[in-house]
Amino acid sequence: MRTEIERYQKKLKLSNTLMEIYPEINANTYEEFLLKLLKALDEDREEKRRIRNLTNAGFLTVKSLKDYDYSRINFPEKMQQETLESLAFIEKKENLILYGAVGTGKTHLAVALGVKAISQGKKTVFFRVHDLINQLEDNDSKQVARVHKKIGQADLLILDEWGYLPLHQEGARMLFDIVSTCYETKSIILTTNIEFGKWKGFLFDEKLTAAIVDRLIHHSHMLMFTGKSYRMTNSLIK
Ligand SMILES: Nc1ncnc2c1ncn2[C@@H]1O[C@H](COP(=O)(O)OP(=O)(O)OP(=O)(O)O)[C@@H](O)[C@H]1O
Ligand SMILES: [Mg+2]
Repeated sequence: MRTEIERYQKKLKLSNTLMEIYPEINANTYEEFLLKLLKALDEDREEKRRIRNLTNAGFLTVKSLKDYDYSRINFPEKMQQETLESLAFIEKKENLILYGAVGTGKTHLAVALGVKAISQGKKTVFFRVHDLINQLEDNDSKQVARVHKKIGQADLLILDEWGYLPLHQEGARMLFDIVSTCYETKSIILTTNIEFGKWKGFLFDEKLTAAIVDRLIHHSHMLMFTGKSYRMTNSLIK
């Protein structure tokens, strides 16, 4: 009988954990058994989806909100720590701008929020801006289409190191295209140490810069990171 069940499990493309789940189920009625089995299969599928989403998100390192020290962040009135961690901004398709000096925990927080969103069943994609532009400039149009599709399917786009390297005009145009597609359709978290007024310095085109800033800040919250670099504070070289 077990072999036959396994054959149907494969044929119906049900999770192979079915074979471990079903003998463990305690139920008094057929309905109860079926319900518990379907629930367990659904949970298994969701868990696999979350793992896949985490692998595909593109994080360079995975970070968590646990033990994150918020003491050096200036929160705006409408976005305190609790509201931030609730991830309501993603539902509302609002943006976050994490602004502050090097090593103050901007990337850590952005990634940790992205990881939390994934654990809640949402999709996050992470790019350092210059990596994104490089990928969009690939000669392989299928690769470029894959990047657009990945962003299109995400609930949250993290653009890390915004303005750290200068872009050429085509790069700036590509960035505008991405920001414009995401506008009011998904959330962006952007990490930067460049103030708005100086964005023209790496985007070059004045009109394009104004158009990007306008779209990004319309529904956005800015968190200011103050203080010294964590890297310096915790450096092994003293
Ligand atoms: N508030 C914090 N709580 C715990 N760890 C932190 C905090 N801030 C930074 N760190 C740790 O310090 C290191 C540097 O932080 P991170 O990379 O997030 O800085 P950053 O602001 O993105 O810097 P940069 O502008 O240079 O990219 C990381 O290992 C990070 O995990
Ligand atoms: Mg960083």
